[in-house]
Order: sequence, then C-alpha cells, then structure tokens
Amino acid sequence: MSVVIETPRSPRSRKGANWEKYGWMYMRISGAILVALIFGHLFANLMVGEGIHAIDFAFVGGKWANPFWQVWDGLMLWLALIHGTNGMRTIVNDYVERQNVRKALVWALWVICGALIVLGTLVIFTFDPCPAGSDPSLLPSFCTK
Ligand code: HEM
Repeated sequence: MSVVIETPRSPRSRKGANWEKYGWMYMRISGAILVALIFGHLFANLMVGEGIHAIDFAFVGGKWANPFWQVWDGLMLWLALIHGTNGMRTIVNDYVERQNVRKALVWALWVICGALIVLGTLVIFTFDPCPAGSDPSLLPSFCTK
C-alpha cells in the first residue's frame, strides 16, 4: 500500500497544520545553522593553539566547564540529531512500503533520537571536569587551584 505524504509547499494538510512543510523548513534552517556550528567546532578543536594534539580529557573538561561551549555543543547535538532523524524519516517514508513497518521504523527513529538527546544533554551539562581521586596531570589546570 502506498503512503500519501503531504507536499511541503501546501500551506495546510487535510488534517490541519502541514507538518511536512515545517519538517522541510527545519531541514534547511537547521542545515544552515549547523554549517556555522560544525565549522566553528572544527576550528576551535583542530586549528586553535596546538590543534588536534591538545585534545584529551582535560581539553574536553575545560571546554564543558564553559557555558559558551556547553550551549554550542548542546545546540549541535539537538539540531543535528533532530535533523538526522527527520532526514531518516524522509528516507523511510520514501522506501518502506508496508504501513506497519514504516510506522514502527519512524517511531523507533524518534525514540532513539529522544534517548540520545537526553543522554547527550546530561553528559554536556553534568560533566565533572575534576573527578575526585584522578591523576592531576590528566585534569584541566583549574582543578588543582
Ligand atoms: C553541514 C551541515 C548540514 C547541512 C547544510 C545539511 C543540509 C541538509 C538539507 C538541506 C537536507 C534536505 C535535503 C532534501 O530535502 O532533499 C538534508 C537532508 C538530510 N540530512 Fe543534512 N545537513 C547537514 C548536516 C547533517 C548531519 C550532521 C546529519 C546527520 C546527523 C545529516 C543527515 C541528513 C539526512 C539523513 C538527510 C535526508 C537525506 C534525504 O532525504 O535523502 N545532515 N541535509
């Protein structure tokens, strides 16, 4: 059985708000923001200072002790996961013909996306850069002050 997907450009679907249109807009808007976030992320991690050689636990701990990078990385996580999941939803809708299988896959995609967003957000915002009992040479410099 074929599946009828609303055309993104129609202002409203037969059932009310046209979610396909908002999904289509989200892909473009999040894509544009992701370009800035991803290149900023690569520049800060690979080009500034010692570049890739500086990346270790202390580097990550130092970044996540700063609210600026917490928000930056949190935005990358949310935007990219929702973008990737919505893109996969489009592919599933395009290729999976059996309605039950299609629905199960789309559900699974959003459940996994939600779980990864919760876990990732928890990691970014509850990360302890100075775990007790660790070798001080592996920790950010501010841990010993
Ligand atoms: C540099 C940042 C990115 C830009 C500018 C971008 C842009 C786009 C755009 C405009 C679309 C819609 C294409 C269409 O409707 O025909 C799209 C689709 C998609 N994107 Fe991204 N994207 C980016 C990053 C990502 C990331 C990080 C992921 C994975 C997490 C991802 C996964 C996907 C998937 C799975 C699709 C669906 C492909 C399809 O419909 O065939 N993208 N992307």
